Amino acid sequence: MSSAQKSFYLTTPIYYVNDAPHIGHAYTTVAGDFLTRWHRQKGESVWYLTGTDEHGQKVMRTAEANDTPPQQWCDRLVEEAWKPVWKHLEIANDDFIRTTEPRHMERVQKFLQGLMETGFIYEGKYEGPYCVGCEEFKLPGDLDEGKCKIHSKPVEMVSETNWFFKLSAFVEPLLEHYKKNPEACEPASARNEVVAFLEGGVSDLSISRSTFNWGIPVPWDTKQVVYVWFDALLNYATAVGLTDPADSEGGKFFEKNWPADVHLVGKDILRFHAVIWPAMLMAANLPVPKKVFAHGWLLVGGEKMSKSKLTGIAPSDITNHFGVDAFRYYFMRAIPFGSDGSFSWEDMAARYTSELANDFGNLASRLAAMVEKYCDGILPAVAHDKALSNALQSTVNQADAAITKLDFQTGINVIMDFCKTVNGYVTAREPWLVAKDPGRKAELDEILFNTAESLRALAVLLHPIMPISTTKLWESLGASQSLGAIGAQKISDVATWGQLSAGTRISKGEILFPRLPELEN
Ligand code: ME8
Ligand code: MG
Repeated sequence: MSSAQKSFYLTTPIYYVNDAPHIGHAYTTVAGDFLTRWHRQKGESVWYLTGTDEHGQKVMRTAEANDTPPQQWCDRLVEEAWKPVWKHLEIANDDFIRTTEPRHMERVQKFLQGLMETGFIYEGKYEGPYCVGCEEFKLPGDLDEGKCKIHSKPVEMVSETNWFFKLSAFVEPLLEHYKKNPEACEPASARNEVVAFLEGGVSDLSISRSTFNWGIPVPWDTKQVVYVWFDALLNYATAVGLTDPADSEGGKFFEKNWPADVHLVGKDILRFHAVIWPAMLMAANLPVPKKVFAHGWLLVGGEKMSKSKLTGIAPSDITNHFGVDAFRYYFMRAIPFGSDGSFSWEDMAARYTSELANDFGNLASRLAAMVEKYCDGILPAVAHDKALSNALQSTVNQADAAITKLDFQTGINVIMDFCKTVNGYVTAREPWLVAKDPGRKAELDEILFNTAESLRALAVLLHPIMPISTTKLWESLGASQSLGAIGAQKISDVATWGQLSAGTRISKGEILFPRLPELEN
């Protein structure tokens, strides 16, 4: 057995490259980034995977409509849209998988060959409706007057001889799995939906297509390509070495990462992840993911924001106005993770001003201004305020408990409440009055040190959600020289009081959350 520490392995869906990312895709990817940054700061070994889903008719037809060969279309969108947007949003993913990469395609073929050999695949005739928007074989109940209920577009009739996966054989094992491990599908509403779906009975799944060729060839029947969802779901495992020999580098990496700790998905693709995917793994005798978490939708006019309905808002439309940190903060803070929510400029502007600019940003600039004015910019002697340090300890405990169970809103609220507590401390201690009396110099020093120390803790705790402004704050507190990089600070050490050093130069730095420009109408 290898002694290597098992990674905290988290994935996002791999997104279709039929268009550039909108804020719905950013929502999932930011959530994953927040959670993995938090776990990294817990000192865990972390692997964060995102990527793109490039095969199938949806992408192929978009490329055709743009007179571009599909591979070229995908290459261009990935390099010019997807990767740059994630970089802009400070996404610290460890890997980016594209389903057209040889590492993925070869492993998908090997996996499929294995299932064929163990008897889980057979040839059959598929006849029925298919929605290219969903890339899904539909049942009569999924349709509304011949249209897909999700895309409001007519479905296409498919009649093909295909390869089938014995999905029906896994209904009982899956029901058993969710009964024994309720945390394997969250929130509870998602789990209930999956269980009801399984109880209703599930038929076998066509896993190949023969009428187009933009996909991975079925290894024993190269006139067919692998069904795009069967191809795509495997990315989570191919990216970490699925099917590589146990003693090879890939095999060892697989051992370190598999099973995934969390597959983050939107509720639109819950069934693929909580029914088909674990069944595929069970068929191959592999461990199933520890958790599939289905979050809610960002809505526009009460409907899911989407590329196909042209309601997608580009992340830059929002970051141009509010900045990247506020973007990351807003969606995790304003919408309970697991519920639907709408984006509103008014709500975002209100939270930006009250929570980020006033509560957090102002505290940082007030402290720097006071240390400059009263102490020539030099942090005074170490002090200890018991009430503040107790409040901090309970903040850390509560935030960690909430964030690690993906209750991001509560976690952030708890941290921002501590920020309010510190503001209350400053207001109550009135350092600007204390400063007027030279006899109260020790008291003044104490207030300033305790405030600086609280800001140190806030910088660390808010770093996973707002990496840019907290890094600026860290610099202005002069913390990197004595404590090292902000990203290397451990959640478990945050509440240890007195980490900043007396004598450190506190600099004013830039305003963390400047006043918003007036909205143009
Ligand atoms: O489904 N609100 O890709 P996709 C919240 N390629 N999240 C949203 C959203 C919204 N309005 N719109 C999109 C696919 N998302 C497949 C996945 S995985 C093996 C294959 C997010 O480009 C959310 O995570 O349609 C949703 O599940 C995903 O983008 C769908 O992206
Ligand atoms: Mg979609």
